[in-house]
Amino acid sequence: MTMRGRFITLEGGEGAGKSTNLAFVAAWLRQRGITLITTREPGGTPLAEQIRTLLLEVREEPVAAVAELLLMFSARAQHLARVIEPALARGDWVLCDRFTDATYAYQGGGRGVNPMLIRTLEELVQADLQPDLTLYLDIDPALAEARLEGRERDRFEREQAAFFARVRAVYLERAAQFERFRVIDAGAPLAQVQSSIAVVLSAFITP
Ligand SMILES: Nc1ncnc2c1ncn2[C@@H]1O[C@H](COP(=O)(O)OP(=O)(O)OP(=O)(O)O)[C@@H](O)[C@H]1O
Ligand SMILES: [Mg+2]
Repeated sequence: MTMRGRFITLEGGEGAGKSTNLAFVAAWLRQRGITLITTREPGGTPLAEQIRTLLLEVREEPVAAVAELLLMFSARAQHLARVIEPALARGDWVLCDRFTDATYAYQGGGRGVNPMLIRTLEELVQADLQPDLTLYLDIDPALAEARLEGRERDRFEREQAAFFARVRAVYLERAAQFERFRVIDAGAPLAQVQSSIAVVLSAFITP
């Protein structure tokens, strides 16, 4: 019987360095002989990527918070069924840029959706699947904002500072609540961020 793969997620606000460090984590694990796939949320399959486009597009019509939430979980259900679950079942590791913690942070913290509702959908869509390790890249939203200057903004990136403060607060609460979290100071220079990540990964792969 093949051993089930491990599921690692990268979380953090806009510009925290998730995409930059996803590549670092993937290379680090592959160098140690681990077979892994990298993916992202919302997205990760053709249908889920289409839902991502629907979610991120700047549009005139205001989006109801619960509509946004259901689209997130719709994309997630497809991603889990088509990509994440099959990979873990065949023994591959999965490294994902954002997952359900982001839903608690953005739709819960940011938009004010009741976390009990998010919990209900999480149970429906994931059953008992949770990441084995979550690297939360923590950064002052103002510093992250400066990194993204000049980049075109999606529907989330156009939110106000208070929104991002609520997002960060929820991430930090969850990091304190769940054992699988490791908080990385993502405001530090990249070399320092990556050496902190390497320390976490070394501990994680050590039996
Ligand atoms: N530790 C760091 N110090 C300085 N700049 C950084 C650091 N980490 C990443 N950057 C830069 O900040 C920018 C945003 O990084 P990145 O795209 O990886 O963030 P992200 O979390 O994926 O953002 P998004 O949520 O928008 O996808 C990039 O230009 C990247 O090179
Ligand atoms: Mg990114």
